[in-house]
Amino acid sequence: MRIDVQSAAPLDFETLCLVVPVWQDAGLSDVAAELNRQLDGLVKSIVAEDGFKAGGGETRVLHTPGKAAPRVVLVGLGKRNKVSVESLRKAAAKAARAVRGIKRESFALALPNLKTIKPEEAAAAITEGIILGLHVYNDLKTDKDKPTTIAQATLLSNSVKAAQRGVDQAQLYATANLRARALVNLPSNLKTPEYLAEQARQIAAESGLRCEVWDENRIIAERMGALYAVGMGSDNPARFIILEYCPPGQEKAQPLILVGKGMTFDTGGYSIKPSTGMEDMKDDMAGAAVVLATMSAITELQPAHRVLALIPSAENMVNGNAQRPGDVVTARNGKTIEVLNTDAEGRLILADALSYASEQKPAAIIDYATLTGAIGIALGQEAAGLFSNDDELTNRIRAAGDKSGDRVWPLPIWDEYKDHVKGTVSDLKNMGKERHAGSIAGAVFLEHFVGENIPWAHLDIAAVSFIREDRPLSARGATGFGVRLTLELLRNWQ
Ligand code: BES
Ligand code: MN
Ligand code: ZN
Repeated sequence: MRIDVQSAAPLDFETLCLVVPVWQDAGLSDVAAELNRQLDGLVKSIVAEDGFKAGGGETRVLHTPGKAAPRVVLVGLGKRNKVSVESLRKAAAKAARAVRGIKRESFALALPNLKTIKPEEAAAAITEGIILGLHVYNDLKTDKDKPTTIAQATLLSNSVKAAQRGVDQAQLYATANLRARALVNLPSNLKTPEYLAEQARQIAAESGLRCEVWDENRIIAERMGALYAVGMGSDNPARFIILEYCPPGQEKAQPLILVGKGMTFDTGGYSIKPSTGMEDMKDDMAGAAVVLATMSAITELQPAHRVLALIPSAENMVNGNAQRPGDVVTARNGKTIEVLNTDAEGRLILADALSYASEQKPAAIIDYATLTGAIGIALGQEAAGLFSNDDELTNRIRAAGDKSGDRVWPLPIWDEYKDHVKGTVSDLKNMGKERHAGSIAGAVFLEHFVGENIPWAHLDIAAVSFIREDRPLSARGATGFGVRLTLELLRNWQ
């Protein structure tokens, strides 16, 4: 969708629909006050008598025939001293949905003047809110079922240059986010490991990145025994995908490595999942989607640092070759793993990817994985779980998460937890203690495959990457969680 910036006076601007922000507590803004005058006190009377409280994201549609905008959407910004970048995103998303509700195909929005948020940041937040809030996954629907699509919006601002900078950045972040959503929402009959590999090749071709794809034979030759074993049960063989962004002169620099879990479907294998809800396991490549979407935006973002993206990809299915509970596999770093539960497959494919990453002299490794259902028990859908061996990396990721709206929260990986995944017949087992600290067990397992003294962080995005009910910034389905966080992190990485 196109978003433009103009400096016109909002109430003189000709548009199908004008969005006017209203504070809950601070009296009417200039634009709202002028609108109120033009409408003989209608705005005030709606607030006083008609139950419109202007709480964050609350909307009201006004018919204003004969005016430059024949429809006005009032949108509440909540209390003035509570306004935040995130509350602006959500209010913008609700306002845009209200415009869609009255079937207008474009609109204008009067950017509010804020004391605590710069025009650039406000414009970025509102742009993200509009694009993310309006997104619906209807790629697979026939045309007549598609709801009204809003093709264009104009942000009206008196700091056009700053606002335009914000819009440009937000367009990049939001477009990448939607790219991740499209990948995750795609059903698994249309999305195999080879499909992810093809996506990586396309991204590389579009933006001049290096791309390498290893097939199942190469995976065996590269001693990735855990990834291979997970892929064995499917007719769609495993792939290991490598993408590299390298600014000129950085060829020898230590890369920042992004690793994404790329299970294109997870039945659980012989430790099979219950059928209820199994359809959501098409989202088990959401980590890979974060990494691919980030790489699709990286050339435009132009971070100064070399970045390597790694995606172990497989499909967890059952056939005569599938691994059995109790099988022992050997990962690339030589450690043996007893597969006590074939449904704990994410940590197996990540074991090989993290081993390989650790060999590349990385500056840091960050992995993204829909690893455990338990992370939703711990944190719900308000934050991803963050596990790290490095405080500075933790702080950077948390800051990027807070700023971008993709929030993360740290959980411990103390030594005491490490015993949970100690093996009996092998070095390690792929499960912790039944019903104890499941997400932490996953994280401490992964840490066994990270080389000494390498800053590493693991983001468990299982509960935030896919939602069953609409939220302000995402319709039900894939959320693209992690893309904005990672772009924000890369933008500031030195
Ligand atoms: N892909 C799942 C985790 C998951 C659960 C993702 C819910 C998205 C929503 C993962 O492979 C898995 O099955 N984990 C098991 C681990 C257990 C067997 C140790 C789990 O969480 O039950
Ligand atoms: Mn699983
Ligand atoms: Zn899984």
